[in-house]
Amino acid sequence: MGRLLLLLMFFSAAVHVSLSATDPRDAAALRSLKEIWRNLPPSWTQSDDPCGFPWEGVTCKNSRVSALGLSSMGLKGKLSGDIGGLTELKSLDLSYNRDLTGPLTPRLGDLQKLNILILVGCGFSGGIPDELGNLSELSFLALNSNNLTGRIPPSLGNLSQLYWLDLADNQLTGNLPVSTPDTPGLDLLLKAKHFHFNKNQLSGSIPPKLFSPEMVLIHVLFDGNQLNGSIPDTLGLVATIEVLRLDRNALAGRVPSNLNNLLNINELNLAHNRLTGPLPNLTGMNNLNYMYVLDNFKSTSLDTDFHSYA
Ligand SMILES: *[C@@H]1O[C@H](CO)[C@@H](O)[C@H](O)[C@H]1NC(C)=O
Ligand SMILES: *[C@@H]1O[C@H](CO)[C@@H](O)[C@H](O)[C@H]1NC(C)=O
Ligand SMILES: *[C@@H]1O[C@H](CO)[C@@H](O)[C@H](O)[C@H]1NC(C)=O
Ligand SMILES: *[C@@H]1O[C@H](CO)[C@@H](O)[C@H](O)[C@H]1NC(C)=O
Ligand SMILES: *[C@@H]1O[C@H](CO)[C@@H](O)[C@H](O)[C@H]1NC(C)=O
Repeated sequence: MGRLLLLLMFFSAAVHVSLSATDPRDAAALRSLKEIWRNLPPSWTQSDDPCGFPWEGVTCKNSRVSALGLSSMGLKGKLSGDIGGLTELKSLDLSYNRDLTGPLTPRLGDLQKLNILILVGCGFSGGIPDELGNLSELSFLALNSNNLTGRIPPSLGNLSQLYWLDLADNQLTGNLPVSTPDTPGLDLLLKAKHFHFNKNQLSGSIPPKLFSPEMVLIHVLFDGNQLNGSIPDTLGLVATIEVLRLDRNALAGRVPSNLNNLLNINELNLAHNRLTGPLPNLTGMNNLNYMYVLDNFKSTSLDTDFHSYA
């Protein structure tokens, strides 16, 4: 009788193990996150097996968690280092959970397979970890509309697959980092189509080195910062640009005449700076729909000519 019971216990334990469809490392990481996050979907409490009896927002492939998508759930808590255990993760989207707060853990840099990282519209604060520069597969990085402070890490220049970089609407300070012989910089992001750095407190001048003819940028959004110095003429080398917003900074000096090389441009916003004329020759900029130059050219006799564009 005792032996039968033992056998039954062994059997049920074996059944239990074989039923778990989730790799134990991933299961452990998700259970740790479950401990510290509030307002999780009910399915997270109804099973112990995130892939087998699937937890909402968890996508698995071959027993490994490949995507975690919990956008707009009202989640509350911190992003602990446990997330770094999900080493097969390709996509992480925790966007629009205002009560996800605290710092971004450096262990995000452990997610070596990550393609997509979307943390838009949460309440994260503190600096952007240098370790994000280790995510060599990353193509989409959106950290906009949080409370992030500190500098843009030069290490982001190592994200050679990146096509979307959105850091807008935070409280970032310091310069736009460009590469040096010893460090990477944003000028190395030759696949990037989106540079969204608007609504921060970035300062210093826009480095001429940031732009080159090899780049494929379509949106360059630097508006609402504290950038000074002149507009670099290297911007005129990035022929793919469609939207260029430099408004509400402290830019001064002439507008580079070669901006008229930007034949694909449809929005050019230079308003609220300290620029002086003349404006570039607009002939050929056939797609230009919006141009704003308001509140510039104050001390020049050209002022009146520009009111029609304002
Ligand atoms: C990740 O990045 C940091 C800072 O950029 C670096 O110190 C560290 O050695 C990197 N780790 C790995 C595993 O590549
Ligand atoms: C975060 O930013 C939002 C909007 O920018 C602001 O209302 C809020 O007070 C900030 N929170 C903290 C903790 O700084
Ligand atoms: C950038 O990548 C290079 C080459 O992989 C590496 O040697 C360097 O440490 C990285 N730099 C940073 C700051 O992550
Ligand atoms: C730009 O601002 C920085 C401070 O952020 C200052 O040190 C520098 O002299 C300014 N440069 C110009 C050209 O005004
Ligand atoms: C602007 O460029 C066009 C074509 O290159 C040229 O015909 C025109 O004279 C230029 N206008 C001015 C004001 O330089």
